[in-house]
Amino acid sequence: MLNQRYAAIDQGTTGTRVVVFDESGRSHSPMSIPHKQITLNSGWVEQDPEEILGNIVKCLASCEVVDAIGICHQGESIVAWHADTKHPLYNAIIWQDMRTEKRIQQLKDAGLEPIVQSKSGLPLDPYFSASKMNWIIENIVGVKELAAKGKLRIGTMDSFFLDRLCGVYCTDYNSASRTSLFNIHTLEWDSELCEIFNVPIHCLAPIRDTTSHFGNINLDGHLTPVTASIVDQFAGTYGHGCRHKGDAKVTFGTGAFLQSLTGTEIADIGDSGLLPTLCWKFPDSPAVFGLDGGVYNAASAINWARKIGLFNDFDELDSFRKESAISRGLAFVPALSGLGCPYWDRSAAGIWTGLSLDVERKDMLQSVLEGIAVRSAEVILAMDKLSPLGDSISVDGGLSSNTYFKQFLANIIQKKIVAPANREVTALGTAMLARKGFGLERPISFNTDAHITTPNDASMFGVIEQYQDIISRSRGLRHS
Ligand code: G3P
Repeated sequence: MLNQRYAAIDQGTTGTRVVVFDESGRSHSPMSIPHKQITLNSGWVEQDPEEILGNIVKCLASCEVVDAIGICHQGESIVAWHADTKHPLYNAIIWQDMRTEKRIQQLKDAGLEPIVQSKSGLPLDPYFSASKMNWIIENIVGVKELAAKGKLRIGTMDSFFLDRLCGVYCTDYNSASRTSLFNIHTLEWDSELCEIFNVPIHCLAPIRDTTSHFGNINLDGHLTPVTASIVDQFAGTYGHGCRHKGDAKVTFGTGAFLQSLTGTEIADIGDSGLLPTLCWKFPDSPAVFGLDGGVYNAASAINWARKIGLFNDFDELDSFRKESAISRGLAFVPALSGLGCPYWDRSAAGIWTGLSLDVERKDMLQSVLEGIAVRSAEVILAMDKLSPLGDSISVDGGLSSNTYFKQFLANIIQKKIVAPANREVTALGTAMLARKGFGLERPISFNTDAHITTPNDASMFGVIEQYQDIISRSRGLRHS
C-alpha cells in the first residue's frame, strides 16, 4: 500500500485553503484563509497579491510533510510584477472586474471579435485576462517602460505564485487558454492576439503541461515538488471524475461554472455562445478539450438577496412552496453582473417579472433560486445539443446541497443531478493531478458516494423557452 500524501492549494476568489489527501482519498483541511476584496470604483474588483501569497505560505506551513503539491487558482484574474524584484506593480485585477468594458467595445466595433474568437476560442469580454493586462500596461506608471526593458512579468495568478514560491516563471496550457492571448489550435501564445490587446508577447510566461515539475517549495526543510497547476474550475472537472467525451459538471460558486469534455477535438461551436476550451494537457499526450460556459451570478445573487433582506438564515433557502414560482408567473433573471454564456452581454440587468400584491419575500427568494437554475440549464442544454451529455450531470458548490434547487434543475433539464458526498471536488481534482504529475498513474480511489436527484416532473422541460423571452427583456437595461 502506497502512503504518499498530496497537498492541494485551492486559491479561489474569496480565500485560500489547503487540503491534504492520502492514497485512500481521505482528506483533511488544516487551514482556510479569506482575503480582502478591494473595490476602488464601481465595477472594479482587486486583491492584494502579497496578501494572497502570504496566505498560501501560511496554508502550506500548516500541513504535515507531503510528497507533492498541486495548485489551482482563480482563472482569468491577473497580476503584473517586476522580473528582478518580483514585487507586484499593482493589485491583482480579478476576473469579475469590468473596468475594460469600453476597451472591449472598441475592439468589437473594430470588427476584431471573429479573429479573437477563432484563435482563442473566447469572445471579447472583460472577464478574460487580456484586456486587464492591457489596462495595467496602459495605466500604471512605469509598466510600459519595464516591458520595453524586458523586465515585466504579467499573467494569470498561478504564474506569479510559481515564480515567487518556486523561482520558476511559467504557466500551464489550461491557464494560458483563459487569457485570450493563447491560440487553442497551435497551443502557443499568438502574436496577432497579443498585438490586438497590446500585450507584449515576450512578457508572457513559458507554457508547460498541466502536470509537470513546476519547481520545489521548501516545506519545513523538505524540498517538495509542485507537480500540477490548473484553473480551479478545471481542477473541479477533473475531481468530478470527468475523463470522457460527454462528461460534465457544474460548480455553483460566485457564478455557475459549467464544463463538459469533448475529447481531443475542438468542438465546432457555431453560434451557440459556448466556449471551446482547453481543459488540460499531460506530457506525451494531446490536449483534452471541452466546452465551457459561465453564468456570472449564482452565490453572488443569493448573497445579494440576503443583503436586501429577502432572507436571513440559509435554512430558509430550502423551504419553499412545492409549486415553482415560475409556474405561478413570477420569474427573476439573475443578470446582476450582466449575462454570461451564451449571451456575453454586460448591458443586461437583473429583473423580476410577474410581481403582484400577493407576492411575498419567500416567493421572490424562490424565484431567485429558480433564475440561477434556469440560466445554468440554458448552458447545459446548449452543451447537450452541441456534444451530447450523458443522462446525468455532476454538481458541487454551495447550491449543490439545496434540495429544492436540485429538484427544480433536474426537472427543467430532465437529467439526474449527481452531488458527490465528498464536497472537496476542486481540491480533490488538484490533488489527483499532483499525484499524476508525481508519476503515479493509478487513480486515487475516488469517493463514489453521491446524492442523486432524479427528475420527477417532465412537464417542466419547456420552462426554458418561456424563460428565454423573459431573459431577452433584461438586455440593455443596465445603467452605465
Ligand atoms: O472563472 C473564474 C473562476 O475560475 C473562479 O472560481 O471558485 O475562485 O470563484 P472561484
